[in-house]
Amino acid sequence: MTMDRYVITGKQRLEGTIRVSGAKNSSLPLLAATLLAEGTSTLLEIPALADITHMIEVLEHLGCGVMRQDEALIINAGLLDSWDVDEGLMRQMRASNLILGPLLARRGRVKISRPGGCAIGSRPMDQHIKGLQQLGVKVKEKHGYIEAWADQLQGADVYLDVPSVGATENIMMAAVLAKGTTLIRNAAREPEIVDLQNFLNKMGARVRGAGMDVLRIDGVDALYPAEHTVIADRIEAGTHMIAAVMTEGDVTIENVVPEHLEPVIAKLRQTGAQITLLDDSVRVQQRGRLKGFDIKTMPYPGFPTDMQPQFMAMLSCAEGTSIITETIFENRFQHVDELRRMGAQITVEGRTAVIRGVETLEGAFVEATDLRAGAALFLAALAAEEATVLEKVNYIDRGYEDLEEKYRRLGAKVRRVIPNE
Ligand code: EPZ
Repeated sequence: MTMDRYVITGKQRLEGTIRVSGAKNSSLPLLAATLLAEGTSTLLEIPALADITHMIEVLEHLGCGVMRQDEALIINAGLLDSWDVDEGLMRQMRASNLILGPLLARRGRVKISRPGGCAIGSRPMDQHIKGLQQLGVKVKEKHGYIEAWADQLQGADVYLDVPSVGATENIMMAAVLAKGTTLIRNAAREPEIVDLQNFLNKMGARVRGAGMDVLRIDGVDALYPAEHTVIADRIEAGTHMIAAVMTEGDVTIENVVPEHLEPVIAKLRQTGAQITLLDDSVRVQQRGRLKGFDIKTMPYPGFPTDMQPQFMAMLSCAEGTSIITETIFENRFQHVDELRRMGAQITVEGRTAVIRGVETLEGAFVEATDLRAGAALFLAALAAEEATVLEKVNYIDRGYEDLEEKYRRLGAKVRRVIPNE
């Protein structure tokens, strides 16, 4: 599939206001959760992203009716006439595996093809499977397929070896209709888990503790459709904050939950940026060259791995030497080679990258290898001298809504080129 490219002219100071869209990583589990109730649920402020379109295709394949009305997505999960998702649909996005929990709770069986690894890591599912098995689910893995079934889900005391976001979400969604109480210990604490808890409870579930490391779910007999507005995307917001800093701009970012961005705000203040918090927006002003610092990615509320590539772009042209340690994914340095093409001085040893800041990055031909690597290169291009051609921007479309439009309004010079145009 030929992919679109951006042509970006750097050194344009960004000024003005940009509004953050709904969170991709909350929208995906919320869409899966609508499978739990017969009837029509409404989700508001779901972003128009490639990954969301893909999840809608999965729901439609299962028999749901899905309709978009402006900012509202209306999902009728009444007629679930299928419980298996074919290879093609599964392969395109790992988060399709979030239908495991809901389908087991609603239909008692599900078959998916094991989602492939991706650029950033092998993406295992052992914690999902171990937790579901503790709830009484039988699992058969064969020929790259995962088939799972359960006559009756039973509450259990589940301990996650790693605080996996997806595993926490899948086990939560299976447990809401199980007999008895489920505890999930060492649960992921991301804001997206809290958003899912809030939606499930609106549907009649009894979930408590999201945001802490022990979740308690008291099973109920049935759930009912509900309406919910997805939280804002903290990773999109953080990306825009870096754009403001890297172009020595003055940008106000609207639709932000400041406490979801604490590690990002702390680090940007450390580099010397002026950050002003208002109740649902953040103003970022930067004058002069940034100072380098070290980062270690950790599960929430630690520094988010999804902001690591974007910070590396920023640190590539900061003063001094910075060290980034990526503790979550084993292969999330794909953007290093591309940043080097723009003049960045980076060496990688295993999960550690050492960045020697350069005065300025240079425009070059580069390509996105995955969503956040693409975002990092987009930011680097905004700050680089002259022009950058960024290939494979369809990766960026997976996680950023209307990116070029939003940035043109801030004064960026970015143009999307569609091959064979
Ligand atoms: C979610 O992925 C996000 N995606 C990712 O965002 C994010 O990087 C990740 O959480 C970590 O914060 C969505 O929410 C759709 P994990 P997920 O299970 O749930 C290991 C983006 O750019 N692990 O928390 O797949 C795994 O190998 C994407 O928006 C197991 O060992 O992440 C990894 O090292 C990229 N066994 C760590 O846990 C398992 O069964 C975290 O993975 C599951 C995971």
